[in-house]
Amino acid sequence: MITIRPPGDKSISHRAVLLSAVADGPSHIEGLCDGDDVRSSLSVIEKLGAQIEVTPEGHGLRASVRPRNQAAAPQEVLECGNSGTTARLAAGLLVGLGVGAVLDGDASLRARPMRRVVYPLQAMGAKIDYLDERNRLPVAIRPRATGSLRSLKHRPRVASAQVKSAILLAGVLDGVPVEVHEPVRSRDHTERLLAGLGVPVECAEGEAGSVAVAFDPGVWSGSIRPLDMTIPGDPSSAAFMIAAALLMRRPIRIEGVSDNPTRTGFLSVLEEMGATVERGDSESRCGEPVSAWTVRPPDRLRAFEIGGTAIPGVIDEIPILAILAARGVGRSVIRDAAELRVKESDRIDRLSRNLAALGVTVSERDDGLEVEGTTARLTGAISAAGDHRIAMAFGVLGETPAATLELDDPECARVSYPDFREHLRRVTEPIGHD
Ligand code: S3P
Repeated sequence: MITIRPPGDKSISHRAVLLSAVADGPSHIEGLCDGDDVRSSLSVIEKLGAQIEVTPEGHGLRASVRPRNQAAAPQEVLECGNSGTTARLAAGLLVGLGVGAVLDGDASLRARPMRRVVYPLQAMGAKIDYLDERNRLPVAIRPRATGSLRSLKHRPRVASAQVKSAILLAGVLDGVPVEVHEPVRSRDHTERLLAGLGVPVECAEGEAGSVAVAFDPGVWSGSIRPLDMTIPGDPSSAAFMIAAALLMRRPIRIEGVSDNPTRTGFLSVLEEMGATVERGDSESRCGEPVSAWTVRPPDRLRAFEIGGTAIPGVIDEIPILAILAARGVGRSVIRDAAELRVKESDRIDRLSRNLAALGVTVSERDDGLEVEGTTARLTGAISAAGDHRIAMAFGVLGETPAATLELDDPECARVSYPDFREHLRRVTEPIGHD
């Protein structure tokens, strides 16, 4: 059976890198994702005064990090590249430390909303200015010479792990209580990692899937233990390989993957499509469950419907789910996913234009898509708009039977999955050439 070990989880890699810069001693991290996004976080902590030594290790990175020298003030603009997680979490980190800096990003990141983190951080007392357009990067965070932040109880309208994490980082680093009440639980890596490093972060489930996450410094020694961890594999990257195997009608085994329940909604959708999913026993790595999955294809993939509270758990997998929908039997519906419009591209627009260009019947909704499955040959030119997940989703389709696609920017996969091409080749090559 084809076996794939996905790259280190991007979300966990960012958090491990950023927290290592403020831990109480040198950290050691293995299996970091070697994508451009995590490199952006590494470069941010280096400019903040952390000393890092990064070496290639297998298909990822090993990093030794000495925490930032507190006397060091960043001299330069902190470039976050394409990485929304770097920009938003670094905003919380800077505010918590009271360190001033300018955060900026590439054209895609400059087009994405920043108000969702800037507003709650300002409510805590941070001084943050938009340097160009309102609500967008670049932003200047002013240093805080005296005084502490105000505590905050925040109720965002949309569940966002980046917003929640920025607030938690600000609260923890300045030692003020913060609470974030989310309508639906977003990925919880920051909470798990902080708790694993000795920081008291509590989660309480509320009604209808809502959750409250709280940091209370009253019961804390004030210490963030150094990290010594191996990053689990990225379920969002694994999703592309699983989808490729399903389209090739092959079973696949994914090893060393994060089995965190806030990230595995994709597997439930695959089951709804008729696939069989076997999950091995999970072991815990720094509070994160890690497991192996075996996924077997059905005779034909069925259509699916997703929406409501299921969306945060599959948000990054929707591009590849839309591709599976195009090869399913019947009409698949994705709703309540308006957040897709503010990702690395407007993913609803990208998916519907590109699928339509291939001859797939697709209708765009404000908050999602409806896709009619087809067995017809799909041929045409695809524009990924520099969005790694759009490029990889159509990259998968292009390597499977009855599709001939011309992709404008396949290289942008390196943002999250540098070995994408090589892994995809292993999943789709003729059997017997392994
Ligand atoms: C991420 C959170 C999600 C996700 C993104 C990574 C994170 O974004 O889509 O790819 O690492 O915190 P939101 O926080 O905007 O939902």
